[in-house]
Amino acid sequence: MSMICLADFEAFAKRRLSTAVWDFYAGGADDCESRDRNLLAFKRIYLRPRLLRDVSMVDTSTIIQGSALSFPVGIAPTGFQSLACPDGEIGSAKAAKAMNICYVTSTLATYSVEEIAAVSTSACNWFQLYVFKKRVITEQLVKRVNSLGYKSLVVTVDLPFIGKRRQDILNHFKIPTHLTLKNLEAFKNDLDSLDKSGLCTDIIDPSFSWKDIQWLQSLTDLPIILKGILTREDAELAVRHGVQGIIVSNHGGRQLDGVHATIEVLSEVVEAVKGRIEVYMDGGIRRGTDVLKALAIGAKCVFIGRPIIWGLAYKGEEGVKDLLQILKAEFHTAMALSGCKSISEIDRSLVQVAKL
Ligand code: FNR
Repeated sequence: MSMICLADFEAFAKRRLSTAVWDFYAGGADDCESRDRNLLAFKRIYLRPRLLRDVSMVDTSTIIQGSALSFPVGIAPTGFQSLACPDGEIGSAKAAKAMNICYVTSTLATYSVEEIAAVSTSACNWFQLYVFKKRVITEQLVKRVNSLGYKSLVVTVDLPFIGKRRQDILNHFKIPTHLTLKNLEAFKNDLDSLDKSGLCTDIIDPSFSWKDIQWLQSLTDLPIILKGILTREDAELAVRHGVQGIIVSNHGGRQLDGVHATIEVLSEVVEAVKGRIEVYMDGGIRRGTDVLKALAIGAKCVFIGRPIIWGLAYKGEEGVKDLLQILKAEFHTAMALSGCKSISEIDRSLVQVAKL
């Protein structure tokens, strides 16, 4: 089987995984409008290449939150990765280390933060946090990841409740009982209200709000990055609350349906932030040219979610590495063909946005 682009891994994973697991990974909320728009919106952004610029040497490396990385693509937090293959998060974390890119461990990982830290890159391993109704659990988790050397706390803010995902309801989807959410194991007795699907979403605190950012800051000195911001108003609030970064994200279209594609709102957020903190994005990145377009609009780095699952389903750690190498090579080619020798040469003049 020859893997040439990310869509090849997607086709393979669709054949390999059971329907219920495939639907869980692929699914979006309600009519999946935002999930699909995330991809479509890239197709109406056109590149304006500059030529005759000596691109014999192209450098894809970058720095985010002070860490030097081989290229500006990171692994977004996705829970339950062992559903795709037994390697799960250990496989994807090892692949991130081999590629020297940023890795974000999900709260809902099937390996523990200790196990993942042991194989992760020390340069850029981040932890994604959901804030629980039982705040003491959150406090302990934050202290645990702090002491393990995780470098940033990614706080997901777009999931006070879980979006309605039709296929999961039709399939009666449940996390198989042999998979445990290892980071929550220690708190089993406190988590008396785990939902029957095993997705754990009913333990997340819907009262979590801006005033709680200060509480999080009191728990840790780690940089705090808010994941799920989609408007200039919230971007401004994020800066005012002293966080260090924003991930423009609509949770891969799995939460509020009917929101814009993330690439469409990226410029609004970048303009509001005015360079005061780093802005990243995720959602629908499938090509090297997508990475280039997002950087041109102002993202410092992008993250990929579902494609990592496809890589795992293909060949575990090796599959994720193969996929990342393909994306990196595509990005390298896209930079060269656009006349960019380094990340610093990628700017807004490189893209033109057409109406959808
Ligand atoms: C996610 N996402 C997610 N986000 C998060 O903050 N914590 C999590 O545990 C998860 N879990 C999760 C599971 C699955 C199966 C998917 C598809 C997504 C959202 C994820 O981090 C990211 O925002 C999107 O996946 C990005 O979109 P693409 O790359 O999948 O198009």
